[in-house]
Amino acid sequence: MDHQLIVLGAGVMGTGITTLALRHGVPVTLVDTSEEILTAARARIATELRTAQLVAGPAEADPGVLRTATSALPAIGTATAVIEAVVEDAEVKAEVLATVSAAAPGIPVITNTSSIPVDELADSVARPEDLLGTHFMNPSYLIPTVEVIRGPRTGEKAMAAAGDLLAALRRKPIVVRDAPGFVTSRLLHPMINDAARIVQEGTASVEDVDALMTGCLGHPTGPLRTADLIGIDNLVDALWVLHKRTGDERSRPCDLLLGKVREGHHGRKTGRGFYEYEKVFS
Ligand code: NAI
Repeated sequence: MDHQLIVLGAGVMGTGITTLALRHGVPVTLVDTSEEILTAARARIATELRTAQLVAGPAEADPGVLRTATSALPAIGTATAVIEAVVEDAEVKAEVLATVSAAAPGIPVITNTSSIPVDELADSVARPEDLLGTHFMNPSYLIPTVEVIRGPRTGEKAMAAAGDLLAALRRKPIVVRDAPGFVTSRLLHPMINDAARIVQEGTASVEDVDALMTGCLGHPTGPLRTADLIGIDNLVDALWVLHKRTGDERSRPCDLLLGKVREGHHGRKTGRGFYEYEKVFS
């Protein structure tokens, strides 16, 4: 099957998923709210394509064609799937999904939310059976496994079509049931929050927390460097979702994280978070 993807949201994840698709020959229409954001996203995708080539080797297929747009609607007639990767805000996602799903009969409508239960978004979608979650990790063009969330109302047809797309992108799906944070964010986000709290309490430095988690526990990246990679603004949004839906106090974002969001130190994408970065990804 020839895939044609619409990706909504040209931030960290939207560009990463687009890079992955282009490398596998899948054409993408990438949608965001302004031409300025889309121009920056094009530059980032060019960099990511080079990084992917260096780290993962040459692409197997001819590169897919990239189009950018401020509306998904002109491309919807020929799309085979829509992936939503806008900000981690249930209201914004519901609005975006409502508009696009009303015009997209019979194709999977996929949310890349990291924490919001998929079924919470299903009422905003024209046909709830078309909606499922694919939790691509960051950077999506390098990480081989994707957590797939099957909501209670997700239909077989959407699951099969999403499986077909992931196979074309050479990703390994692991299907889980719907819950706040699913498996990966339910485990990872409170752990990062604890790591920040440990620094806040003065037990250890940022560098030492990360060095212990990589050197002693074998994590590929320390939790605070991971926070910078995710984006601390997004991390905090997802922690609030987890906290509100589970009541778990471990998920209440700690003051150190909240302060970084207030100061605009969101991690790699702003050039500074727990660490400083030469290259600003925005
Ligand atoms: P981001 O903040 O980097 O990008 C979000 C983008 O959405 C921005 O470019 C913004 O302009 C755009 N946007 C906002 N409203 C829009 C609208 N109505 N229509 C089109 N675009 C709109 O966020 P990021 O990190 O890319 O996250 C996107 C989604 O992926 C979130 O749900 C997040 O929780 C999830 N996610 C993030 C991961 C990460 O490591 N950052 C990992 C896995 C999932």
